Amino acid sequence: MNLTIVGTGYVGLVTGVCFAEFGYSVKCIDKDSKRLEKLKSGKCPFYEPGMDELLDKHINKTKLISFDYTLQNNLNNSDIVFITVGTPTRRLEDEADLSFVWQVAEEIAENINKYCLVVTKSTVPVGTTREVKKIISNKVDEKLFDVVSNPEFLREGSAIDDFIRPDRVVIGTENKKSETIMKNLYRPLFLKETPIVSTSIETSEIIKYASNSFLATKIAFINEVADLCEVVGADVQQVAHAMGIDKRIGSKFLNAGPGFGGSCFPKDVKAFSSTAKKKNVELLIINAVNKSNQERIKKISDKIISNIKKNSTICFLGLSFKPNTDDVRDSTSIKIASKLFEKGYKLQCYDPEAMKNAKNENSNLFFFSSAYEACEGASAIIIGTEWNEFRALNFNKISKILKEKIIFDLRNIYIPEDLKKLGFEYYGTGK
Ligand code: UDX
Repeated sequence: MNLTIVGTGYVGLVTGVCFAEFGYSVKCIDKDSKRLEKLKSGKCPFYEPGMDELLDKHINKTKLISFDYTLQNNLNNSDIVFITVGTPTRRLEDEADLSFVWQVAEEIAENINKYCLVVTKSTVPVGTTREVKKIISNKVDEKLFDVVSNPEFLREGSAIDDFIRPDRVVIGTENKKSETIMKNLYRPLFLKETPIVSTSIETSEIIKYASNSFLATKIAFINEVADLCEVVGADVQQVAHAMGIDKRIGSKFLNAGPGFGGSCFPKDVKAFSSTAKKKNVELLIINAVNKSNQERIKKISDKIISNIKKNSTICFLGLSFKPNTDDVRDSTSIKIASKLFEKGYKLQCYDPEAMKNAKNENSNLFFFSSAYEACEGASAIIIGTEWNEFRALNFNKISKILKEKIIFDLRNIYIPEDLKKLGFEYYGTGK
């Protein structure tokens, strides 16, 4: 099968290399010439475990992946074209900005000259895929194409594994022909008995937002329970553990912390609610999840401020929105560090992969090349992201270089008693 993927962001590139891994020939399109040059030389523009190896393999050895900046001449041979461009939140609004999707739809319309499937893989509000169909059918005979919704459920940091071993694949189609082509595309997953959920286009679009919003709800829920635990002297980790054993609840996404961040949850929760509002449906729970998560930054910052002397130096470990990524979009760490800076603290930061992106977000923070260097002379340590390398820090060594022994373990990666024994004043989340 020949595939074309428009947009070489996170979703587009992971999709591209993984389909090449299945043996398909993939053409990736992006207007950003700098990005394309980097990609052509086999360099991934972001950090994702396993990506560099797969890019190198499929550019240089199998030659299944190639790049271009235009769709012109690239649809003649294509069976499926995927739209994987960004759908950021519109400035000062909650809804998704779909302008890139519309541009790609126009470009597809100008270049289709034989039957092909047009698949929306970007996270798009319900109704978008039909709108794409309208745009294309203004210029192209409807016999020459079908539209499909095929959302992705990739997590940054484990995206390749998520693609190759997904919990499920969702395909929203409007006729048998396109359903059959999509099932054929995902045939390599049949061996792994991956459930393929075949739905209407609208249902598929809703599944994506409902899934992300539900996971975000679980996190916001346990974070509020954590607040109560702190006040009454209970332990949220034990609460979550016992709740999670109940199969109806499940143990995943019940880790209390500084709130959810990243390029998906905050944006998708807002967009889901905003789409519903347009249809006169109020998603009260989702609105509350958004509010609860936004207020969390202030709550956590206030807790830190009330326990550390004014104007002191703080060591901040972990700046990405979660481990195993260099992505700092909507990172709770950056937000909390920035708030503390505004209040007059000096921030000595370290992250294994996200320092470059963090510098671009806030150049007022100071950056160091190891956790230990960032600890030097600090009056407190904050662990904002649970990178593996922070899980077994040498606290005997750290004790000697800190000014005061205070730790805010926002992700609950340490046992409080262990650190208290070493003389630390310990603050976790919800315990
Ligand atoms: C998410 C979805 O999981 C994925 O299916 C979708 O395609 C894209 O959005 P991602 O944003 O990569 O993936 O990260 P995820 O692992 O879901 O974490 C999102 C945020 O929630 C992070 O800030 C993380 O730290 C936080 N989180 C997650 C918690 O605070 N507690 C948890 O228990 C789990």
